[in-house]
Amino acid sequence: MSTATGLLSDISGVGADRQRGGYSRHGFDVVELELREWFIAEAGKRGLTVDNDRNGNLWAWWGAPGKDAVITGSHLDSVPGGGAFDGPLGVVSALAAVDVLQARGFQPRRPFAVTVFAEEEGGRFGVPCLGSRLMAGSIDPDAARRLTDLNGITLADAVDAAGFDPARLGPDPEALAGIGCFVELHVEQGKGLVDVDAPVGVASSILAHGRWRFRFTGEGNHAGATLIGDRTDPMLPAAQLVLAARAAARAVDGARATVGKLIPNPGGTNVIASAVDVWLDARAATDEVTRNVVAEITAAARDAAEAEGCEVAVTEESYGDTVIFDPALRDQLAAQLGGVPALPTGAGHDAGILAAKVPTAMLFVRNPTGISHAPAEHAEPADCEAGVTALAHVVEQLTR
Ligand code: GLV
Ligand code: MN
Ligand code: MN
Ligand code: MN
Repeated sequence: MSTATGLLSDISGVGADRQRGGYSRHGFDVVELELREWFIAEAGKRGLTVDNDRNGNLWAWWGAPGKDAVITGSHLDSVPGGGAFDGPLGVVSALAAVDVLQARGFQPRRPFAVTVFAEEEGGRFGVPCLGSRLMAGSIDPDAARRLTDLNGITLADAVDAAGFDPARLGPDPEALAGIGCFVELHVEQGKGLVDVDAPVGVASSILAHGRWRFRFTGEGNHAGATLIGDRTDPMLPAAQLVLAARAAARAVDGARATVGKLIPNPGGTNVIASAVDVWLDARAATDEVTRNVVAEITAAARDAAEAEGCEVAVTEESYGDTVIFDPALRDQLAAQLGGVPALPTGAGHDAGILAAKVPTAMLFVRNPTGISHAPAEHAEPADCEAGVTALAHVVEQLTR
């Protein structure tokens, strides 16, 4: 019988990023393909049958696939230089929960599958929750196929190279209609469970959030030979966007705005960039507040671009409105687990995408520092096992 931490240590060498620290595991890259193979082998050891759906999501069925299925799982990809738990903990906990139930001789009566969703972080192609979004029909498949990574490889080409058929990417109403409910276990990204001294909780809501890409275009030139007065430097409005994001978010209670990715072209120390791409991540409690924060930042970015003589083009790369998880399922899980706390989160999840289509809930496992999307992300082994016990109990109750 495996533990969650034992399974995590089995994959601890896969995708370790020596430069950034932590892990870099991205949708349809060689690292993620190795993790898929590992998952398929682990599912096989438990007698589960693995299907690949049309969007590269994996479904490991315990018994025959069928309607009104209970599904649980998460993702194996990471942000660049991410932690070991965001994503994989939900997958390994599902496998460990199957072990717990099989050791007891339990047989689910309802169809049951462990799922792995593709490119949840959007670390490679920019759009988060790509596998679940495609399945749910919340992204246009043609637009998705055209998404490119930093090397100019399109999603279509990456999917093809990984051995899947890019023509099949798109809405999967059949898979969706088969889901009775989805439960995703995840490491908490925050200290809500630390504050209430509980190892496990359930999620109540997700902030509205999205990603916007600002492309500032100026004039590439020589850093030494170009007088300051002669420059049209797109790095100037890019820098002012960063400051405007902080100011706009600080002015609104609970709003967040982040620039975590800024890509100058061509990116040389002695080169005035010809263009800079700035990725803005903005989140707040409601759609309206999020949109207002982004509008304010956009206005500041346009003013700053004009002052420098630069052009700016703004693209909304992804968006999701506030998610309220199914209250009945959430309360059912909390009661099954003896009254665990319910917590809101600022992090996005495949569960947030599926929540618009099927009853969906999340279990959170305590994170002692609250740090996530960074190598220091952590959960204590005992808390991970409490998560497995909770998930096994929930699966048993939901599938009996
Ligand atoms: C994904 O984890 C996100 O919230 O950005
Ligand atoms: Mn994440
Ligand atoms: Mn995650
Ligand atoms: Mn996420």
